[in-house]
Amino acid sequence: MIIAIDGPAASGKGTLARRLAAHYGLRHLDTGLIYRAIAYALISKGVALGDEAAAVNAAQGLDPASFDNPALKSHQVGTAASVVSAIPNVRAALVEFQRQFASKLPGAVLDGRDIGTVICPNADVKIFVVADPRVRAHRRTLEAHGRGEQADEAAILADILARDERDQNRTVAPLKPASDAYLLDNSHLDIEGGVRAAIDIVEAVRAGRREV
Ligand code: DC
Repeated sequence: MIIAIDGPAASGKGTLARRLAAHYGLRHLDTGLIYRAIAYALISKGVALGDEAAAVNAAQGLDPASFDNPALKSHQVGTAASVVSAIPNVRAALVEFQRQFASKLPGAVLDGRDIGTVICPNADVKIFVVADPRVRAHRRTLEAHGRGEQADEAAILADILARDERDQNRTVAPLKPASDAYLLDNSHLDIEGGVRAAIDIVEAVRAGRREV
């Protein structure tokens, strides 16, 4: 089974995808880490984020071992990832890696922006996770505090809105729900509630009870 989880920044899709993978015994790929790793590689070398040749080079030399680096989680790297991910040739260089990951048995949960639309258009279940931007900004603020970082909630909100705008309006693989994705709004759900709602969707789709 392949499950595609897409949604905007800080929507909680990553945690949801991890929990669904554990529940169904599937592998999990947080595809945001791919773009974060590329952005981080450029930042570390002092290379401009708009340097297409350097970004494509980093994408072609992607090392999944680097996904464990906690520095990839920072808000700054997330914003930089949004910039490099808008470069069409960067995305093109990463399609095969993601499809290979998805195709290995017993299946996988992939979370990102274009999993249901571009990477795995034939996924068995597609869920598009949304949440009010203010709720997302608040969650990101709490996460940053949890890591012992300073966080300005208003600045995070502005950044999330700018990131949504960039991710939704880029020319290649923009953030949008697939026509057969099920929308899950978790603004008023805690993590457990979101996981339960997602499992309900998967079970309903598997039982053929729900048209999505
Ligand atoms: O989900 P995230 O915050 O880790 O993603 C960081 C950025 O990477 C996001 O703003 C856009 C980009 N991204 C993408 O374009 N496609 C994906 N499948 C995943 C992430």
